Amino acid sequence: MYILKFLGALALATSVLAQNVTYCPGGGVCYAVNIPAPTAENGSGDIYFQISGPSTLSWIALGQGSQMKGSNIFMIYADAAGTNVTLSPRLGTGNSQPSADTTAEVTLLDGSGISNSMMVANVRCSNCASWSGGSMDFTDTASEWIWAYKTGSAASSDSVSASVSQHTAYDSTTLNLQNAAGGDSSNPFTTKVTSTSSSSSSSSSSTSSSSSSSNSSDTSASDGGGGGTPADVNMVIMAHAVLAPVAFVLLFPMGAMIIRLLSFKGVVWLHAGWMVTTYVIVLAALGMGVWIAVVTQQLDTYHSIIGLVIVVALLAQPVSGMTHHLLYKRTGGANIATYPHIWWGRAIVTLGIINGGFGLQLSANTTKGEVAYAIFASVMWVLWMVVIVFCFAKSRRTAEEKAIYTVEMRNENSSTERMRYPASISAGQPHSRELLW
Ligand code: HEM
Ligand SMILES: *[C@@H]1O[C@H](CO)[C@@H](O)[C@H](O)[C@H]1NC(C)=O
Ligand SMILES: *[C@@H]1O[C@H](CO)[C@@H](O)[C@H](O)[C@H]1NC(C)=O
Ligand SMILES: *[C@@H]1O[C@H](CO)[C@@H](O)[C@H](O)[C@H]1NC(C)=O
Ligand SMILES: *[C@@H]1O[C@H](CO)[C@@H](O)[C@H](O)[C@H]1NC(C)=O
Repeated sequence: MYILKFLGALALATSVLAQNVTYCPGGGVCYAVNIPAPTAENGSGDIYFQISGPSTLSWIALGQGSQMKGSNIFMIYADAAGTNVTLSPRLGTGNSQPSADTTAEVTLLDGSGISNSMMVANVRCSNCASWSGGSMDFTDTASEWIWAYKTGSAASSDSVSASVSQHTAYDSTTLNLQNAAGGDSSNPFTTKVTSTSSSSSSSSSSTSSSSSSSNSSDTSASDGGGGGTPADVNMVIMAHAVLAPVAFVLLFPMGAMIIRLLSFKGVVWLHAGWMVTTYVIVLAALGMGVWIAVVTQQLDTYHSIIGLVIVVALLAQPVSGMTHHLLYKRTGGANIATYPHIWWGRAIVTLGIINGGFGLQLSANTTKGEVAYAIFASVMWVLWMVVIVFCFAKSRRTAEEKAIYTVEMRNENSSTERMRYPASISAGQPHSRELLW
């Protein structure tokens, strides 16, 4: 009982002293709201919020409301100089780009800017209690907000009505504004940030609650959605964006070409080892990808879904490859596993190459990267297809020259395990280069 009472009192004290509610949906993006004590008391007045996130994002937004339509949206993006952010108040009209709202009384405050690959906007809003489309009770324990951000190239505009493209991550959330109430600072978020070095600057503003309000806050309302700092996320994105393309564009096609082009005994094991090693690299890239997708809430994007499907689909390859090999050893010919292995492998690897493009679309800062990838990937893929067609034509020619389509017999001289056209036994030729397809 006593403990419960104590906890209750503590909770009450916290909410009285609290100065911000913070919500971090992931991807290094965070939103914080402060309702100054006077505003909380009389239900209207200035409120403060902070929007922060990696500067690798195209834009970040926070809105009052439960859906885009009728919401009071505040979007930030890099300005033309790239050193500060442009604060763009917008009114949501539906599920389309919200248009600039000229009636919003918002001010970008000190402490805003872009540095250390983070963009931060400290904002004061003087008319956020109501707007064309809705209103907000600043004492609501479950006030409704929406948030969104877009990965991709920086908007780089000083215009509040810059045209931006659709979010890559978004959702709605509720914030307990009772826990955000407190303080009477004209810029609560810089107060926090600089309080260690210059606490005299503004923490002295008196509130009814306490003089120590500057370091009390509500953290229970903050959401644990995202782990990892933006720097972590960016590093993992970088590693993922190197490993996965190297595997799909370079190593898988090379491993496929190896078995087509090389002819020596045991080439099958070079192929098998090469492909399985590449698959392990893909698993590592997938692990990173899943982490990134969870942290930045992008598991529901095409790139993430296709990526997961591909990695599962590729599991069939070692199985079908091994089955082909064992049956081939017994019969010396194409078997039930041969064509599934060849064509499933080609299809899934190709899908993986394409999916790399989707990934770049999700996160590339420049279209240059996408173009470079498209060119490199196409060259590699075309080369692979040329090798396939070339080897196919060659094997067919050989077969036609011999003009014999007899039953394939196991050929002990065959140095590789590629399938071949049935060749004349009487010709007595090793037909290791004659492919079945
Ligand atoms: C993740 C693992 C693997 C992948 C992605 C993969 C992929 C492929 C692909 C795409 C081809 C067709 C090559 C072409 O484009 O012409 C191929 C051929 C082949 N693979 Fe694999 N492979 C894998 C593992 C294995 C394993 C473990 C074995 C055997 C132990 C194996 C044995 C073969 C053989 C013998 C062929 C030639 C089939 C023929 O032409 O008759 N593969 N593989
Ligand atoms: C809100 O309350 C403060 C003091 O608590 C007062 O100074 C201010 O005038 C009030 N504002 C309005 C709009 O009532
Ligand atoms: C960004 O703009 C705001 C508002 O003009 C200003 O207070 C802040 O100091 C600027 N930040 C930087 C880094 O220039
Ligand atoms: C909100 O309060 C917490 C706890 O004091 C603090 O760590 C955090 O920096 C504050 N958020 C902002 C944006 O100032
Ligand atoms: C404020 O912060 C200081 C130093 O971090 C700490 O010693 C003190 O207990 C804090 N006060 C409250 C009320 O949390």
